[in-house]
Amino acid sequence: MLQKRSRNLIVVKQLFVNIYLELLTEYYGIRSDNNIDNTIKILNTWLKEQGSNYFSVNVTMDPKTQGHEDEKGIADWTPSRFEHIIKLREEVLNYARKIWADFIFMLDADIFLTNPNTLNLLISKNVTVVAPILKSDGMYSNFWAGMSENYYYKRTEEYESILTKTKIGCFNVPMIHSAILIDLRRKDTDFLTYDSQYFNLYNGPRDDIITFALSANYSGIPLHICNDENYGFIMVPLENQDIIEQDYQQITNLKLEMLAAADQEFIQISETMKSFVVYPKKNTLGLSNIYMINLFRRPERRRRMLACFDELGIKAEVINAIDGRTLNESILNSWNIKIMPGYKDPYHKRYCKYRPMTMGEVGCFLSHYIVWNKILEDNHMYTLVMEDDVKFEPYFRQKLTFILQELQHFKSDWDLVYLGRKQMQKDPENVVNGSQYLVYAGYSYWTIGYMLSANGARKLIDAKPLENLIPVDEFIPIMYNNHPRLERIF
Ligand SMILES: *[C@@H]1O[C@H](CO)[C@@H](O)[C@H](O)[C@H]1NC(C)=O
Ligand SMILES: *[C@@H]1O[C@H](CO)[C@@H](O)[C@H](O)[C@H]1NC(C)=O
Ligand SMILES: *[C@@H]1O[C@H](CO)[C@@H](O)[C@H](O)[C@H]1NC(C)=O
Ligand SMILES: *[C@@H]1O[C@H](CO)[C@@H](O)[C@H](O)[C@H]1NC(C)=O
Ligand SMILES: *[C@@H]1O[C@H](CO)[C@@H](O)[C@H](O)[C@H]1NC(C)=O
Repeated sequence: MLQKRSRNLIVVKQLFVNIYLELLTEYYGIRSDNNIDNTIKILNTWLKEQGSNYFSVNVTMDPKTQGHEDEKGIADWTPSRFEHIIKLREEVLNYARKIWADFIFMLDADIFLTNPNTLNLLISKNVTVVAPILKSDGMYSNFWAGMSENYYYKRTEEYESILTKTKIGCFNVPMIHSAILIDLRRKDTDFLTYDSQYFNLYNGPRDDIITFALSANYSGIPLHICNDENYGFIMVPLENQDIIEQDYQQITNLKLEMLAAADQEFIQISETMKSFVVYPKKNTLGLSNIYMINLFRRPERRRRMLACFDELGIKAEVINAIDGRTLNESILNSWNIKIMPGYKDPYHKRYCKYRPMTMGEVGCFLSHYIVWNKILEDNHMYTLVMEDDVKFEPYFRQKLTFILQELQHFKSDWDLVYLGRKQMQKDPENVVNGSQYLVYAGYSYWTIGYMLSANGARKLIDAKPLENLIPVDEFIPIMYNNHPRLERIF
């Protein structure tokens, strides 16, 4: 449920809007209709703030339309909805040709470009049609690497290798969508179209993006997807019967992905747009308390975690970690700390040397130790302890609720539950009887996120770990008797 965050340098700047935008070199086009929310108000606020930055803004917003005929829900793509989107796209493509635009950048509203340099980067690729890769909270993205004989999505191995960046660059693929740059200066783009009625050889479905892909293929224009940079993110489309709440949940998932990817900066919303962003009410997820351990000199991690908590509606207490840099022998003595003599790191044992604990590791242990004591002092029954470099998996809140229910039913006497860990043991783990997701943890590393019961906290403290200190993620497996090399020494 929790992953350790990997490092990526990107700057995130994004406007949260829910419409269909097209950018014509310096012309800016906006089309919005069939809204069931305050999209038009948001757009007008944005236009007031940003509109003057463009040479010309061409806006059509229809506040009256309320969905297409035969539509069963907000995500139901009826024939008339397809006709409408085909017409919009075709109209703007032709308009761009008419005004001799050099480029057209077609951008759908359910994407978040987090790289402010995207347009320049795409232009610099010097190809006719190109899309920046957009990540979702799962395997979905804005390209296909295979197309079936009847022009639908085909699974391929190449898809995964582009998505996961096992190969990096710009690749020729049969389909790109949602964010597309077309170099209209090149004559061979003259026959690109979203509308199959202008395309004699077409025998695919009446669908804007499939038509576009095939018209490119027939024009001999390769479609490119570039994964050489972090460009942005995309929402997974809803299923036909889905409701708006699923979209809200997905946007939370996606914002958490963005927060995990950003290193220094994260989603910034201009002051005027802030009032439109609604966060869930905060609580402790049914636990007695939630702690987040953060080093005071890492404020960017603290800010990022607090932003994640805002998105997830998590009320957490920030604990100032003990900074290893401020520790020395005399301080350790004053705490009565004795580092376990001859402590050997079992997973780096091939180096065959005894590794003393670093002060950083001591500080980390003490930080967790302080939290365990606090849990007992404040009489908390069930708590969650997190470090500050956590990446939340999609649907974190729902998953946690489910786990707590399972614990209540199948394992009410639990001490500690890892919510994220590095599994060190290859052997299969025993399943907790009756439960779907709980296993008895084998040897595991990391302390990025775990739940503790009062009993669990008591056991950790009673073991008097400071008298024989080892790294905290070695200590915990010893406490549940699942450490491969160290004898149970307490
Ligand atoms: C706005 O764009 C449409 C094409 O979508 C075009 O027909 C119309 O002439 C444009 N209006 C202005 C004022 O440029
Ligand atoms: C861009 O591509 C065109 C045609 O493929 C080529 O003639 C031209 O030299 C390229 N320009 C640059 C700057 O690479
Ligand atoms: C057009 O599609 C065919 C069949 O999938 C493919 O072999 C060919 O490379 C495509 N052409 C371009 C320009 O992408
Ligand atoms: C250890 O750190 C404390 C507090 O910073 C300092 O007062 C003390 O002189 C240090 N002791 C040694 C041996 O460096
Ligand atoms: C799980 O249930 C089975 C059958 O009811 C029982 O034999 C087994 O001991 C139980 N395992 C645990 C770990 O409680």
